[in-house]
Amino acid sequence: MEPSDDIVTFLLGAEFEGRPLTDPEIFGGCLLLLVAGIDTMWSAIGATLWHLASHPEQRKRLRDEPDLWPTAIKEFLRAFSPVTMAREVTQDTELGGCLMKAGDPLLLPFPAANRDPDAFDHPDEVILDRALNRHFAIGVGIHRCLGSNLARMELDTAVRRFLDRIPDSTLADAEAVMWSVGQVRGPRVLPLDFGT
Ligand code: HEM
Repeated sequence: MEPSDDIVTFLLGAEFEGRPLTDPEIFGGCLLLLVAGIDTMWSAIGATLWHLASHPEQRKRLRDEPDLWPTAIKEFLRAFSPVTMAREVTQDTELGGCLMKAGDPLLLPFPAANRDPDAFDHPDEVILDRALNRHFAIGVGIHRCLGSNLARMELDTAVRRFLDRIPDSTLADAEAVMWSVGQVRGPRVLPLDFGT
């Protein structure tokens, strides 16, 4: 039988610093793959539905100009970046006047970076055809999201199909919307009126 080319098989044969991965490392990799696409995904989908529910003009524009979807998906990810990651400082460093010591825990608030007015025009607006959009919602560098293409496809499929079936959904009760707190942010309660 030919060895398969899936990620688990890859991890079983992978080496790190000249040694095979340990079972806990392989298990950790598999577990990460399993959980990394859950609350990230429904947070992104929920936040996008929340936004579109109160922006009928954008729903109409997406219906009239379906070619906008890929750019719009990127913009929804920027504007509602669900994930804030953490790191540990490896050596004493000063950044922007802030002193960080080796061993300090550090949050990387991608959502804040993605609304940096020095990097984005009108950062608090959702601009469906935003031309320049170098956002960090799916990370940057060596640990950039392994599932980023899948994530964009899932977000596109879920929101587009939702709008196809329920084009006129609006917020049923804006006060009742509840957002999660912590490192993955998205609406946990989102009452929508389907307009039927
Ligand atoms: C909208 C949905 C998603 C968002 C916003 C998101 C965001 C992120 C971010 C910011 C990172 C970087 C972590 C870091 O720098 O330490 C990351 C890593 C990762 N993501 Fe996603 N993600 C999403 C969906 C997914 C999906 C669907 C999968 C796979 C099923 C996935 C798998 C992973 C994995 C395995 C990593 C770790 C990569 C590494 O450490 O080398 N993600 N994700």
